[in-house]
Amino acid sequence: MIRSALMNVMTAAAIKAGRGLKRDLGELENLQVSTKGPGDFVSLADKRAEKVLYEELAKARPGYGFVMEESGKVEGADKSHVWHIDPLDGTTNFLHAIPIFAISIALEREGQIVAGIVYNPADDSMYVAEKGQGAWGNNRRLRVAQRKEMSEALIGCGVPHLGKAAYHPRFKAELAAMMTKVVNVRRLGSAALDLCFVAAGRYDAFWERGLNTWDIAAGALLIREAGGFVSDCDGQPDFMASGSICAGNETMHKQVLATLASVA
Ligand code: IPD
Ligand code: CA
Ligand code: CA
Repeated sequence: MIRSALMNVMTAAAIKAGRGLKRDLGELENLQVSTKGPGDFVSLADKRAEKVLYEELAKARPGYGFVMEESGKVEGADKSHVWHIDPLDGTTNFLHAIPIFAISIALEREGQIVAGIVYNPADDSMYVAEKGQGAWGNNRRLRVAQRKEMSEALIGCGVPHLGKAAYHPRFKAELAAMMTKVVNVRRLGSAALDLCFVAAGRYDAFWERGLNTWDIAAGALLIREAGGFVSDCDGQPDFMASGSICAGNETMHKQVLATLASVA
């Protein structure tokens, strides 16, 4: 695995914040049945995890900027470095005590993502990548799947939730088109982990629209370092700006893009 000082800083911060989330996951099992419901508790857990990440990373790398889901942007004195952080990706799963959620941290340097980690504290799975150093999952080198036929492919996606109803018609059309071509489709509920599943060769490809940099920056680097291809859903390179993402091996990436284009 990669043992750079930067990786140590990122993984240590995630493990520390993850300890709190894991404890909170245990609590949630009780809160499911309380009359107040677990909503407020989850939002507290989320914010607490982000505070730990912010404090640890700011201490280790003073001056770097931050883009965080809960607290927004924090400008740094060092304009060439920005952290993109989602302290809890897969909130709905977490709320329902489903142990599929993650902390996602990526480091942008001069406009390029150079390091990324995705950590699920529930099962202690750690996915890491540094530009040019390969992608690793639980200390094992990751490679994207080598399948070339859509008819053999398992594809991940994200279903837009109720608050994103404007995305529903297009998603339904895309799903219908995909279902005529692939073995089946999966929806994990954590875009960061979904992307790790592509890097690990579990999914042949993945697409989702309406995401943010903190959801996808780390996972996208993992896929590229695992030999995969990443673009937005229109095949354009700037998925960080558009928030839509499509990824897979070279052939699958092309075919999924063509399927999405056939719907537009
Ligand atoms: C969400 C998850 C989910 C995706 C949503 C994201 P959150 O992030 O990644 O898989 O479908 O669009 O917003 O809200 O759990 O951090
Ligand atoms: Ca997220
Ligand atoms: Ca989140």
